[in-house]
Amino acid sequence: MNSFMSWIGGKKALRDEIVVRFPAHYSRYIEVFGGGGWVLFHKAPGKDFEVYNDFNPNLTNLYRCVRDHPDELCDELRYTLNSRTDFDHIRETLHTKTDIPNIKRAAYFYQLIRESYASGLDSFASQPHSMWNNFPLIHEACRRLQKVVIENKDFEKLIKQYDRPESFFYCDPPYYETEDYYEDVGFTEKDHERLANCLCSIQGKFLLSYNDCPRIRELYSRPGIIIESTSRLNNIAQRYEAGKQYAELLISNYDTAEWLESCRQMSLFDLFEESTEILKGRKFVWKQEKSE
Ligand SMILES: C[S@@+](CC[C@H](N)C(=O)[O-])C[C@H]1O[C@@H](n2cnc3c(N)ncnc32)[C@H](O)[C@@H]1O
Repeated sequence: MNSFMSWIGGKKALRDEIVVRFPAHYSRYIEVFGGGGWVLFHKAPGKDFEVYNDFNPNLTNLYRCVRDHPDELCDELRYTLNSRTDFDHIRETLHTKTDIPNIKRAAYFYQLIRESYASGLDSFASQPHSMWNNFPLIHEACRRLQKVVIENKDFEKLIKQYDRPESFFYCDPPYYETEDYYEDVGFTEKDHERLANCLCSIQGKFLLSYNDCPRIRELYSRPGIIIESTSRLNNIAQRYEAGKQYAELLISNYDTAEWLESCRQMSLFDLFEESTEILKGRKFVWKQEKSE
């Protein structure tokens, strides 16, 4: 299913590539940099314990309101106008007032996402639309989120809290040198390093998506880590150059074809033709066993 919101860096275009690489076995799924949750909403709900986390408190408040108060949230959104004046007022209010009730705050934040240019929250650029069209999405997301734990923590604290051998962390941090897109939280060079050190010492498994750049390749070229390169259509560049691709890395501490291998052992191989094709095309940039 789709997310109920678009978000900068959202993984809508890469979600098939990501989900097909999930480990064969895990009992805790933790989405560390939740954003619009495109991977969480795309993955099948199973028996696993699921956690959505983001350090942006407006975002986690919105998620909690979608999960716990969808009708009240839709009521708050029912009579919003597509108006630049309202947009600027709401943006200012969210930045300056601390005592806005949670559901109203969630409605304001959703309106900013919905009406800003590329969901960047800062400039009004809305096509005429009815907010009512979003209500079915909000209710669908509410049902999907019922058993999902929603956290508002810095990644390191979260990863340490949930780390077990049977945990699986999907991480989609702010991309290198595009950190300013997330003005509400901030992310620095030190945070990229902190993330690498934290992930490379966990007991569980992780899959990490990043932009392809020398610094990130360097940070993760370590024993026991696998780096694959992939690409997807660059949505913004499509406007002036059709077919333009955006290079990305998928980094893991396990073999990303292990799920398919387990299907092969159960003779289910043919059922997953599309997944097989994706995994057959894997391009490794770095792969070095960990010496015992
Ligand atoms: C690339 S976006 C995630 C997009 C998401 N995967 C999706 O499909 O919509 C990165 C997210 O990391 C969050 N973030 C930034 N710093 C963080 C931190 N220190 N700990 C946890 N989340 C953080 C941002 O608020 C942002 O929503």
